[in-house]
Amino acid sequence: MAIKIKTPEQIEGIRESSKLAGTTLKYLEQFVIAGNTTKFIDTKAEEFVRDHGAIPATKGYNSYPAATCISPNDVICHGIPNNYEIKDGDIVNVDVTTILKGYYGDTCRMYSVGTISEYAQKLVDAAKECLQIGLGQCFTGNQFGNIGFEINKYATSLGYSVVYEFCGHGVGIKFHEDPQVDHIAPKNSGPVMKPGMIFTIEPMINAGKARAKVDKKDKWTARTIDGKLSAQYEHTILITDEGYEALTNVYNEY
Ligand code: MF3
Ligand code: CO
Ligand code: CO
Repeated sequence: MAIKIKTPEQIEGIRESSKLAGTTLKYLEQFVIAGNTTKFIDTKAEEFVRDHGAIPATKGYNSYPAATCISPNDVICHGIPNNYEIKDGDIVNVDVTTILKGYYGDTCRMYSVGTISEYAQKLVDAAKECLQIGLGQCFTGNQFGNIGFEINKYATSLGYSVVYEFCGHGVGIKFHEDPQVDHIAPKNSGPVMKPGMIFTIEPMINAGKARAKVDKKDKWTARTIDGKLSAQYEHTILITDEGYEALTNVYNEY
């Protein structure tokens, strides 16, 4: 399958949806606090998205049951919101994908609950930096593999590992389109970026081993195999003539 070049009209639609996804993550700050369950946060996210005329893309996607993925601590991604009560010191990822007028916007970020350890803070900072490093590789003529090459180089230089079982992806008209955007890749590998391509970068950085294990019961929640922390940031990105635009970056915080 070829990588879609989005039309100006599609870009406008994806821009609006991405803006809403980014705004939703901002709105959720007040709810990602000690004592709240991840299910409660999911409910607030779904309300917000629907109040803005959009649909949460994850709900019903391959039978996924919730409006968001909420992944605390050793959960890498795809955490199904449940009765887990967030507590002081937790690091929590919330991932929101909106469908607005048929267009998809996909983003996630970390939230620190109360006071977190220096160990956790460093990992969160590293994951944020990995996304920035990925963005730095987004320009017309560059190859997708350079995103993963640079992210992996940086993460491993800090003693962290990069999850390879989940990747970034083309996005916009569908939830997951070509290309697959690897967060570990050989230098100068993969397709060439062109204006009008839209995709995500969403590195998952582990404090310990890279491997993920998916929960046997719920078939979604992916955890680190060693129980150590994992952190992730994600933007939906448009390649332009000048470089890139991070469409979900509404508040310039990451
Ligand atoms: N939003 C996730 C991503 O970044 C995908 C979640 S799919 C789900 O690609 F089914 F787990 F929700
Ligand atoms: Co994504
Ligand atoms: Co996502």
